[in-house]
Amino acid sequence: MHFWRRFTEGVEMEKSDCRTTPADALVIFGVTGDLAHKMIFPALYAMAKRGVLTVPVVGVASSTWSLAQLRKRVKESIKQAGSIDDRPALDLLLSQLQYVAGDYNDPATFKKLKRKLGASRRPAHYLAIPPALFSIVIENLGASGLADQARVIVEKPFGRDLASARELNRIALSVFAEDSIFRIDHYLGKEAIMNILYFRFANSFLEPIWNRNCVASVQITLAEDFGVKARGAFYESAGCLRDVIQNHLFQIVALLAMEPPAFQGFGAVQSEKAKVFQAMRPLQPDDVVRGQYAGYLDEPGVSKLSDVETFCALRLFIDSWRWQGVPWYLRSGKYLATTAAEVLVELKPPPQRLFDDAAAPEGRANYLRFRLSPNSAVALAARVKRAGKEFVGDQRELFLLNEQAGQETPYERLLSDAMAGDGALFTREDAVEAAWAVVDPILDTHHPVQLYPQGSWGPEQADTLLPAHGRWHNPVR
Ligand code: BG6
Repeated sequence: MHFWRRFTEGVEMEKSDCRTTPADALVIFGVTGDLAHKMIFPALYAMAKRGVLTVPVVGVASSTWSLAQLRKRVKESIKQAGSIDDRPALDLLLSQLQYVAGDYNDPATFKKLKRKLGASRRPAHYLAIPPALFSIVIENLGASGLADQARVIVEKPFGRDLASARELNRIALSVFAEDSIFRIDHYLGKEAIMNILYFRFANSFLEPIWNRNCVASVQITLAEDFGVKARGAFYESAGCLRDVIQNHLFQIVALLAMEPPAFQGFGAVQSEKAKVFQAMRPLQPDDVVRGQYAGYLDEPGVSKLSDVETFCALRLFIDSWRWQGVPWYLRSGKYLATTAAEVLVELKPPPQRLFDDAAAPEGRANYLRFRLSPNSAVALAARVKRAGKEFVGDQRELFLLNEQAGQETPYERLLSDAMAGDGALFTREDAVEAAWAVVDPILDTHHPVQLYPQGSWGPEQADTLLPAHGRWHNPVR
């Protein structure tokens, strides 16, 4: 008995050691692509500046580039994202770079990669490549022995429906252990999103009202005042629901709706978040309004007959003890009136109407507002009396600005965490699948898109999701 306990503890320790041992190389598949250019190189530069990039960085792509070309591209990317303000950090990053050109389908590419990795034993493989290539790269990493003790970092989208997410999980788990798989949702690396978790569970005043007894509804809006830019072809295969709602907005819902984690540590947070997705009622076509901005059909890469949504609004229910009957309204779109993201948690009005100044229930309801972008803040709205004889007042906000200089960008944070083996800000297999299960019924079965003018708040039909007299809360920039 004793022996068994010691033995299993030993195994556990060994496992946890290798889980938390830092990666000794970073491999970036798709190093010549857009994501590497826009996000990954600036993040690596920031890591070099902070002195936390100390391992070789091996780029892999099919283009026959030279190392000099890759270094030039890295410099351009950093300049584009800001400026080169730390020459030694840049030189360090450039000196760590290596390049492997090759086809992802060809085992010879992985042999070359293995040679380049030399003495590295615990690489982190970052798949910054189109999702269609995830499986083949993971399988080849396994077959070439490059997965032992390694980690894999997988970019979104993780699958395009429940079946493909399950299949991708199956393949990834046949090669890597769950705690070596880091599924990226860059929203989880944002300060404002991490603050939701902190604000909820670091304060005691919220918990007594944070349920169906006091909360009337929750709205989450992620608005962007630009179009699909050069990503028309990608949008055609994704649409707004898959692009930002099933992942980014659902993650926000999970953090707002989850039960308090039973113990300290990210495993407990992951489990509570997964339960929220499992308790979400699967969506039906009438729960969703899809929109498309005028002019989308003329974007490069877009079909003239496209029915893909660039706007999506939906009404969601979480069938749990805490949230039964509380509607959650989610909305996102391109070419809307502004670029901003906010959560509005509307509380129920007082049960008795004692004062005449707040006739309509919506005028009396207090709310909590989480500003998520472009800046991070929390506001609590309460009614206060105006000076004078009359008992009339106004809804005013207690406003907490939560911005700190020198924050890490989400990619910087997530990359360093994955390299260090810290999975707190990544999504887990069961949660990803449960989130897909909620949207799966409406991916192919839905009402046609409604056109909306650029610069508006999307199609008017989105109002029909709300109760009579309900209004969408439009964040201002
Ligand atoms: C990405 C989507 O995941 O998130 C984009 O593909 C979207 O379409 C972006 O614009 C929004 O992220 P952020 O960090 O700019 O709010």
